[in-house]
Amino acid sequence: MTQKIGFIGLGRMGSPMALNLVRAGYSVTVYNRTPEKTKPLAEAGAAVAGSLAEAASNAEIVFTMVSDSTALQDVVLGPVGLLDSLQPGSVLIDMSTVDPKVSRQVAEAVRARGAYMLDAPVSGSTMLAEQGTLSIMVGGEESVHERVREVLLKMGSRTTHVGPNGAAASLKLAVNIIIGVTMEVLAESVVLAQRAGVAPEIAVEVLSNSAVASPFLKYKAPQLLQPLGPAAFTASMMQKDFTLALQMARETGVPLPATAAANEVLTMARGLGLGDHDFAAVTTVIRQLSGG
Ligand SMILES: NC(=O)c1ccc[n+]([C@@H]2O[C@H](COP(=O)([O-])OP(=O)(O)OC[C@H]3O[C@@H](n4cnc5c(N)ncnc54)[C@H](OP(=O)(O)O)[C@@H]3O)[C@@H](O)[C@H]2O)c1
Repeated sequence: MTQKIGFIGLGRMGSPMALNLVRAGYSVTVYNRTPEKTKPLAEAGAAVAGSLAEAASNAEIVFTMVSDSTALQDVVLGPVGLLDSLQPGSVLIDMSTVDPKVSRQVAEAVRARGAYMLDAPVSGSTMLAEQGTLSIMVGGEESVHERVREVLLKMGSRTTHVGPNGAAASLKLAVNIIIGVTMEVLAESVVLAQRAGVAPEIAVEVLSNSAVASPFLKYKAPQLLQPLGPAAFTASMMQKDFTLALQMARETGVPLPATAAANEVLTMARGLGLGDHDFAAVTTVIRQLSGG
């Protein structure tokens, strides 16, 4: 068993994921930019590092689970980043959803340091992170994936090697456009039914048992009914992923008409001040713009 793990980024996803590693018996040192968020991990038995360098310096595996490409660059390549503290032969595993080009840039810098990098973004939400049942996509060397697979399986129920560095980051964007577009069309469906006199609860119950039923619909049903309740994945984060996917599409010449339309609804959500709400807030947007 790999004993020493560094874990950076204790947000909505990172906190439950790191907790699962602590509960599995690994020696985990956590770091978060906002130190207060380390408290529950410390109570569960994790060591708390005061700097990125401290979190990485003794670790055989360092995980990052941060917001976006800029955050990843900051924590690894920035002036107080962890790059120079990585042990030769250690593995940096970035589980955030970031630009595949940035992921490859970081992988190159890590390789030059004599360490390894995997991009290992996840499909699933906070609930699946808590349960340790995320689906994990892996980009990088297959042999490195095999080396760390046992640890990854403490956070997810399956891992899939996708290809070289950046391949999993690309696939993650392809997965997330389905999630985002699905949420938007669910919002249209529920509000259409509601305006025709059907209670949203009934509409969601029927949808959850219909031909379009899916694990996604099942775990997002509460947010579909209460879009402005506690956020699992914010509208701003979803737009970050759509923007990356649309950029990748332009570079590869792939038309993404449904993604482009759903992206506009996220712009409306942000314009209405709903960016920090769950991306189910697109339901609120459609509701506010309907009924005229
Ligand atoms: N939420 C989901 O359902 C979900 C599902 C799959 C994938 N993801 C992906 O997982 C990643 C994390 O999402 P999340 O929902 O956990 O986000 P979150 O709750 O907003 O957490 C973001 C984390 O990144 C840290 N961070 C941001 N900028 C930083 C910087 N410049 N330097 C150092 N740390 C920085 C934050 O630190 P502070 O606490 O100091 O702000 C926090 O720990 C994202 O890439 C997201 O797309 C999310």
